[in-house]
Amino acid sequence: MGEVVEVNGPIVTISQPGIRNGDQVMIGRMNLIGEVIHIREKDALVQVYESTESLRPGEQVSGLGHPLSVELGPGMLGQIFDGVQRPLDKIMAMSGEHISRGLEISALDRDRIWHYVPAPTLAVGKMLAGGQVLGTVRETETIEHRILAPPDYAGEVIEYAPEGDYGIDEIVVRMRTGTGSVEGLKMYHQWPVRQPRPYLARADSGLPLITGQRVLDTFFPMLKGGKAAVPGPFGAGKTIVQQQIARWSNADIVLYVGCGERGNELVEILQTFPELTDPYSGRSLMERTFLVANTSNMPVVAREASIYVGVTMAEYYRDQGYDVVMVADSTSRWAEALREVAGRLGQMPVEEGYPAYLASRLAAFYERAGSVNTLAGMHGSVSLIGAVSPPGGDFSEPVTSHTKEIIRTFWALSKPLADARHYPAVSWLESFTDYSDRAAKWWSENVSPQWAARREQALALLAEADELERIVNLVGPEALSSSQRWVLESSSLIKEAVLQQSALDPVDSYCSPEKQFQLLDLVLQYHQGGMQMIDLGVPVEQLTELVYGSEIKRLKSSVANDDLTALQEMAQKTQQAFDAMRVEYGNPRGATP
Ligand SMILES: Nc1ncnc2c1ncn2[C@@H]1O[C@H](COP(=O)(O)OP(=O)(O)O)[C@@H](O)[C@H]1O
Ligand SMILES: [Mg+2]
Repeated sequence: MGEVVEVNGPIVTISQPGIRNGDQVMIGRMNLIGEVIHIREKDALVQVYESTESLRPGEQVSGLGHPLSVELGPGMLGQIFDGVQRPLDKIMAMSGEHISRGLEISALDRDRIWHYVPAPTLAVGKMLAGGQVLGTVRETETIEHRILAPPDYAGEVIEYAPEGDYGIDEIVVRMRTGTGSVEGLKMYHQWPVRQPRPYLARADSGLPLITGQRVLDTFFPMLKGGKAAVPGPFGAGKTIVQQQIARWSNADIVLYVGCGERGNELVEILQTFPELTDPYSGRSLMERTFLVANTSNMPVVAREASIYVGVTMAEYYRDQGYDVVMVADSTSRWAEALREVAGRLGQMPVEEGYPAYLASRLAAFYERAGSVNTLAGMHGSVSLIGAVSPPGGDFSEPVTSHTKEIIRTFWALSKPLADARHYPAVSWLESFTDYSDRAAKWWSENVSPQWAARREQALALLAEADELERIVNLVGPEALSSSQRWVLESSSLIKEAVLQQSALDPVDSYCSPEKQFQLLDLVLQYHQGGMQMIDLGVPVEQLTELVYGSEIKRLKSSVANDDLTALQEMAQKTQQAFDAMRVEYGNPRGATP
């Protein structure tokens, strides 16, 4: 037993011989949860994840003998956990009450009974390597939970439980380890959150993470196992983008980490997700979703832990062979926790008060994304998507600029676009992705061989239009030729018919890959048809007066994903209109039949 020496906000000095760096500790009468972050000659510094108000020197401290860890087993889906994996009573979360301190609640429900089916590969006498599947339970209607041996255990099976109903504290496999000791394996195990869970090898599937959001999937695609950031000033739509990904992405499991942002956004998820159906399984979204909530009204330092608690749980489902998406809102609030702790420790601030290790911590976090072959011989992935909230929307500040170096997809949200109510306010100029070539393979095989060409054409058209707009601003619209005016017309069609997508529109909230491509294809056909007319001498006014432009803009919310015939009809109608014009204006070049 040690004791509290000094309390400095969330940083508590303790005297306890033998304690190790990283050890989890319980502090004081209230049993506050903390983690040793620095060992000194006579004492140690602990960061405490709960308010230390009224904690006094002399109160007792006990080390738990292990690093900050999470429990991994069935019963996590549909749950909402705090930053150190305590399940938040849903009612308490919704009423927005402050959580009492020192609550010793285990993460997984000890009373819940699961129907366990042993893995067919289990056999007495067989050697079992770490991370193997011990059996399965049905965690939700959509997700079969694969019970895994802890990654760091290996041994010979000497006994295992038959199919039946068990609680997670019951032993389902007994094995003899290399040292001869007999160990009982339960349906859950613990894992330290700061240590990435092991896998066999990285194995990129090359499959895109489809989010149903056109500007993300078509223009700046992300892969399963990829890492992405959503930077943007306050109100630009970061949370909505992340919620849309959580709702609609083609992942098996979604983990939403609310880190330092408003609690009501999590309440909204808890209220709306159970009513929403997963477009892939047709079942409630909560069956594949769980949450970590460390909202702005909770202790700042716990944000630091919540990111690791989250990603460790995500890796655990990856190790079961699932594609997991973790969204974190926001990594800037997490970085603020780093800054707060560094400040209290008197560490040298380097950039805007952040410690020198900001960049390496960010990199280490995103490094836990990936597509892998698991120890159990399956394929799984963790995709990480972090929101970044730079003060004043300045992307050159440290958290945004370091993040930009680390991630591979950058969905930059723009204040002018958001102000113009162009949602999602993803800037086509500032955003980028390194995954478009690999995504193109999937799109070309599954949707259209024209995908990559269409995407390039649209991006080029948008860039050209931005250039032309600059000219118009300088010298007025008279300076533009007819074809340049048609480019401007077509780019606004791309923006309204394709890029803009309302999260609130019941039809348009999710757009299937086929619909994404056909909409874009239609708009580009219309653009090219118009260009041919201009070449024939058709005045651009006659083109802009056509009703088709405004009809095309409405298709995204009138055409359902499962019936795209209206898109093909529109393509025919516009083609006929252009054909009629061609007759009217003759065909001086004898081109296009
Ligand atoms: N895709 C979208 N569709 C409709 N409205 C949106 C969309 N994206 C953002 N908005 C609007 O912008 C507001 C602010 O978005 P939010 O995600 O909360 O911003 P941030 O998290 O960046 O502060 C939302 O409440 C909503 O009204
Ligand atoms: Mg937000």
